[in-house]
Amino acid sequence: MRIRLTDSPPRVAAATRVVFLYEGRDPAAGSPAAWTSGVRAAVRATGFTGKEKELAAGGPPGRDFLLCGLGKAPASAARWRSALRKAVRQALERPGRPIVLAFGAGLTEDAFRALLPQIALADYAFDRYKSSRSPGRGAGRVIVVPPPGVSARSLAGAVREAEAIAEAVRWVRDVGNTPGNDLGPAELAGEARALCKRGRISFRVLDKKAIERERMGGLLGVNAGSERPPVFLVGEYAPPRPKGTAVLVGKGITFDTGGISLKPAPSMGEMKYDMMGAATVFGCLAAAKASALPVRLIALAPVTENMPGGSAQRPGDILRMRNGKTVEVDNTDAEGRLILGDALSYAEKFSPDVLLDFATLTGAVLIALGHECAAVMTDDADLARALEAAGEATGERIWRLPLWPEYRENIRSEWADMKNTGGRAAGTINAGIFLKEFVPKGVPWAHIDVAGVAHFEKEQSGWPPGASGFGVALTLEFLKKRFPAPAAG
Ligand code: BES
Ligand code: MN
Ligand code: ZN
Repeated sequence: MRIRLTDSPPRVAAATRVVFLYEGRDPAAGSPAAWTSGVRAAVRATGFTGKEKELAAGGPPGRDFLLCGLGKAPASAARWRSALRKAVRQALERPGRPIVLAFGAGLTEDAFRALLPQIALADYAFDRYKSSRSPGRGAGRVIVVPPPGVSARSLAGAVREAEAIAEAVRWVRDVGNTPGNDLGPAELAGEARALCKRGRISFRVLDKKAIERERMGGLLGVNAGSERPPVFLVGEYAPPRPKGTAVLVGKGITFDTGGISLKPAPSMGEMKYDMMGAATVFGCLAAAKASALPVRLIALAPVTENMPGGSAQRPGDILRMRNGKTVEVDNTDAEGRLILGDALSYAEKFSPDVLLDFATLTGAVLIALGHECAAVMTDDADLARALEAAGEATGERIWRLPLWPEYRENIRSEWADMKNTGGRAAGTINAGIFLKEFVPKGVPWAHIDVAGVAHFEKEQSGWPPGASGFGVALTLEFLKKRFPAPAAG
């Protein structure tokens, strides 16, 4: 949805007017002055208390409000995302009526800015494969009244940025939700090419021949069982006077059967989302370009299926990776780290000031952290803190796990430099420890395991069912802080 900001609620007839109220707070604190008496009346009429997830519609006809509960103050960005999504979905049930969202006191300008992408995305739905599309789709536009003290005019740039993020996230979700039959490596390359073309971002694809020339043994090993050739995607955005270079690497398994170490049938279908890392880094690239961030940004994605074909790699096989290290493939289902290892070492070509990778890498991260956050692993405490702060601000939370050298023992191989598994204990860390072997020397690097948050089975924590686009807003926020634009004027 497009966002139109205005300082005071417009007098449009028959609008769906939405306010967000905290539990145990005076409703007047949650609504613009012009609405206060009406909101009070609606609260009385409905017995609304402001509990988290509470939603009520009430008030005299023409002066009615949609009341949306935030729970106890203050609400985190994650809780706000939930409330926004709930309110907008409810408002869309009345198609044709303009939607006005108003924000009350107690929301800082920064916190409000962070909500803007969530507002623009609140109507997202993926119904491309439905013969009849869901009603109420595409309200087109939402009118937003910022909290008191925050002027609409000062936020014009923030709205453009939020819309850039929202558009990128929509793209990430659409390709993520597209099933494996329609989105193999060639198709993902095509989508990324089209995205970059629209954004006037330079883009190229290394085909199988070029991948062989690069000696990307990990990517080729994983691809061996698939009929579809691998691709390695490279997107680059370079502003005129960059403040530095960041490289983002994303795991691009368009479908993960597990290979010869075949996954069990239940929920294997989820593995169409195993390319969310790749989609995320290209989404970041598009949003960064559209927001004209002053950083040179490179997105890299190794892309293949993981299939159990007759020529597939076998457990016990030993691969030679791009950086020359050898890996014993103990389990062909630990394929993400094999393709990422090659991509991380390829990042050396760009001399990055910071290197991040996003990957749906381990089931173990769901056991450790569930669906409320991603795991970040890095040896750089400042980098961890910066990413955590960006995540808290945007509602895309992350939590740090250690990468102490003692864990290296877990992936020791009898025959090769390492093996690609490390046992069930510390499964997420073992994957991080493996990746560390491929990071170019001296480059600050963080690995973000998004397996628990890249997609959701059902509507949850303000995320729609299916692909989430987790990481785009977080990365943009991180890059903005790490590579600040010179002060204007
Ligand atoms: N793509 C999976 C990880 C995954 C699992 C993502 C569940 C989302 C939901 C990854 O390739 C994988 O299969 N990892 C294995 C590693 C193991 C064999 C060491 C896992 O986590 O079981
Ligand atoms: Mn796997
Ligand atoms: Zn996988």
